[in-house]
Parts: sequence; structure tokens; C-alpha cells
Amino acid sequence: MKNFARNSLKNKKFIIFGGGFSGQFIAHEIRKLGCEALTSSRRMQNDTTSFVFDSLSKELPPEDIFDRTTHVISCIPPDKSGKDPVLSRLLQKLKSLNLEWAGYLSTTGVYGNTFGEWVTEEDTPNPLQDRSKRRLLCEKSWLDSNLPIQIFRLPGIYGPGRSTFESILKKNIKVIHKQNQVFSRIHIADIANAIIYLLLKINNENFKQVINIADNYPTSQIEVIEHSYKLLGLKMPEPINFEDAKKLLSPIALSFWQENRRVSNALLCKDLGYKLIHENYKSGLRNCLDVIKEKNLIKFNYLKN
Ligand SMILES: NC(=O)c1ccc[n+]([C@@H]2O[C@H](COP(=O)([O-])OP(=O)(O)OC[C@H]3O[C@@H](n4cnc5c(N)ncnc54)[C@H](OP(=O)(O)O)[C@@H]3O)[C@@H](O)[C@H]2O)c1
Repeated sequence: MKNFARNSLKNKKFIIFGGGFSGQFIAHEIRKLGCEALTSSRRMQNDTTSFVFDSLSKELPPEDIFDRTTHVISCIPPDKSGKDPVLSRLLQKLKSLNLEWAGYLSTTGVYGNTFGEWVTEEDTPNPLQDRSKRRLLCEKSWLDSNLPIQIFRLPGIYGPGRSTFESILKKNIKVIHKQNQVFSRIHIADIANAIIYLLLKINNENFKQVINIADNYPTSQIEVIEHSYKLLGLKMPEPINFEDAKKLLSPIALSFWQENRRVSNALLCKDLGYKLIHENYKSGLRNCLDVIKEKNLIKFNYLKN
């Protein structure tokens, strides 16, 4: 294990595999600290900080992108067989880099259904869905890789550009009522900032290999949707009962309703001292709406202030 004690990330170089929603946000935040951050995409982008990586293609990323790399993060989900797309193609390359740190974005789906009970990192994973079983295999591959790996288990990710507001305004939101069903969630800013916090503050003594990043307030989806409508100054449609809604949901959407758990952030926020930017969905949604307005992401003139 490397010495994790460090007080600056300046001049470090990060390679972020999977420059999707989280990957791009994390890259943006890391660059603010004076680091270099490259992100991958399966198709060529018109952007000098992006490189092509597709685990299903024969091509590997160009050698020179790895020069001086100190940190890597993978934001790529498992492939269909449960192999990790990055490790299956690049494990030897990553081992040759003498990395200071590697991060892997996983999901709290590995805990399976706890019937509304809280789960912590101490609980044995018990994945219910096939995709979560594949995820656990990927976690294991990273843990077995001998790289200086840290795994972040994430619940539903939201943030500006990916929130209930977009779904409401695109009219593809379903307002579903299911008694006692809760979901945990996390604002994208807290994923990026918690990772940076851990990189800056953690040393060998308090290093934890698996960490949940979740907000303080697991709650029903309907509560979040209702609040979103309120912020928009719009009337929420009548909720549909879950039993009636089942036939309207895709198999993947339905699978999320088969699991009910509250994800504890006590390790991150109490033991390791991270302070959430958005402790609950109300704070997170306010931020999403502010960014939508500020960046004119959606043009409509009936927003409440
Ligand atoms: N979204 C959620 O609510 C949520 C919750 C918990 C955990 N997670 C997990 O957290 C991670 C980040 O989530 P996200 O929502 O930010 O992901 P995302 O926006 O869907 O981005 C996924 C990235 O992976 C890349 N990718 C997918 N398959 C690939 C392959 N075979 N080879 C190379 N690259 C590949 C995509 O490439 P392109 O850019 O070319 O499309 C994209 O950049 C993912 O592992 C996700 O499963 C997500």
C-alpha cells in the first residue's frame, strides 16, 4: 500500500475511465485543484482532454496518455459477463504505472434488498439483481488487482442536467406511490468532493477501502417529485399505485422498485469527517434548479424564484 498521506493534489495526473455524467463532473472538480485530468469516451470527441477507450474494441488508448499518470478512476459499469471493462483490457498497463491511487465507482445495489433497513459497509453484500452480482464481481477484481484501490458505493446519482426537473419538463416522469418504499441518493457534487476530501485528508492509518457516499436522507421518490413540482410552481399529477404502474415500467425501472434500503454514510461523514454539500434532496434540487436557470439549460418562464 502506498503512503496515502498527502496534502496537495497539485500537478497530479488523473485518468478517468468513463467520461459520462460522473466522470466529467469529477474531472472538472479535480482540474480546479491544478491537476491534469483526462477522460475516456467510446467515440472520438472534439476535446483535447478526452481519449478513446472502448473495452469492446480491439484498439487500446494511445500509450502517451499514460505518461506521468498518478491516479486513475473508473466510472465504467461492468460488461455483460461481469468483467470489469478497464481491468479486462488494461490491468497490466495500470500495474506498470506505479499509481498512487485508484478509485472505482460502484453501486449500493451490491447490498440487495434490506426491506428498508439501513446498510453499512460492514454488511455483507447480498446482490439481488444480476447487474448487481456483476458489479460485485468487478469490485472483487479491483480488490484483487493489487492496485491501491478505493471503492465508492453510490446510490441514485443526480445533479444539474440529470434530475427530476429534466424528467418533469421532458414529460417522462412517472409519479408512483409504493407504501414504505424509500431510495437513497447522492448529489454529484458530493461524489466529487468526497473523493477529493478523502484524497487530501486520508493517510495510511484511516484509509478505508470501501466507502458509501450517500446523503443523510433516504426517502420516497414521490416526496422528491412533489418537491420538484413545488419548486417549478407546477401541479403534480395524481400518483399511480405501484401495482398499476408496474405495466408501465421497463424491466430495468421495475427492478429498482424491488429493492428498498437506506444507505448509511456514517463511515464517510462521522468516522472520516466529510461534510456533505447537499445533506438532503431539498438542498440538492435547489442547486439543480439554480444551475438550470443560471446556464439557461431549459428555457421556460414560469419558474418560481
Ligand atoms: N447513474 C446512477 O444513478 C448510478 C448509481 C450508482 C452507481 N452508478 C455507477 O457509477 C458509475 C458512473 O455512473 P454515471 O451515471 O456517471 O455513468 P454514465 O454517465 O452512464 O457514464 C458511463 C461511462 O462509461 C463509459 N462506458 C460504458 N461502457 C463502456 C465500455 N464497454 N468501454 C469503455 N467505456 C464504456 C461510457 O462511455 P461513453 O461516454 O462513450 O458513453 C461513459 O463515459 C457507473 O459505473 C454507474 O453504473 C450509477
